[in-house]
Amino acid sequence: MPKITILPHAEICPEGAVVEAEPSKSVCENLLDNNILVEHACEMSCACTTCHVIVTEGFDTLEESSDDEEDMLDKAWGLEQRSRLSCQLRNLSNDITIQFPRYTINMVSELHPNKHNLDAEDKKSLSKDDFSVSSSAVSHLVEMMKSNPGSNGIRISLKDSGCSGYAYNLDYVKDEDPNDYHGNFSGVDVYIKDTSLIFLKGTELDFIQEGVNHNLVFKNPNVENECGCGESFTFSNKPFAELK
Ligand code: FES
Repeated sequence: MPKITILPHAEICPEGAVVEAEPSKSVCENLLDNNILVEHACEMSCACTTCHVIVTEGFDTLEESSDDEEDMLDKAWGLEQRSRLSCQLRNLSNDITIQFPRYTINMVSELHPNKHNLDAEDKKSLSKDDFSVSSSAVSHLVEMMKSNPGSNGIRISLKDSGCSGYAYNLDYVKDEDPNDYHGNFSGVDVYIKDTSLIFLKGTELDFIQEGVNHNLVFKNPNVENECGCGESFTFSNKPFAELK
């Protein structure tokens, strides 16, 4: 059976490893079978990028990637020319060597400096450097809250978007999540999901009215590319650089 050599990764496989690959199973499954706990957030359905690996040896011996895999890889952090989604890699005919990228989106959320450096009380508070809300956005959020009596604030998070990467998600808060970061902006309570904060760092939430159109707008310095409709976006590597 072909062998998969896994180069050391501090979180996933600190010592590195060599495993025998069952060809009918994906590389992701083979790793999991050998207790190498590669992330696989979408349960291997080619709908996330958490199983991303870089094939440093044997790349040219692999079956070609599908269009779906290519589309999904475009959203992966640390994308390289030899990147593949391990859940889509099957039928190995030769030995390969793989390397995990330094970060996945899930790891980055764990690496946010506030999460480690602040104590339990401070950890929940948003600073001005983290996030701000313009006065016009505050007024709009107040109106939103009025139309949803019983809510305790607005919760902001990121979600995968099929269009071009990520999209913002706004919810009314009924029950607070103790892991969320919290700020009070002129009387409006705003909560940000802890794993989303790093991608929102430095953002101003604004409310813009142009003629009959009006929208909440996230002025997020970490966004690199937006799709044509403006609904979804990808991030620059800036948030990662600040962690190094
Ligand atoms: S586990 Fe989600 S794409 Fe592989």
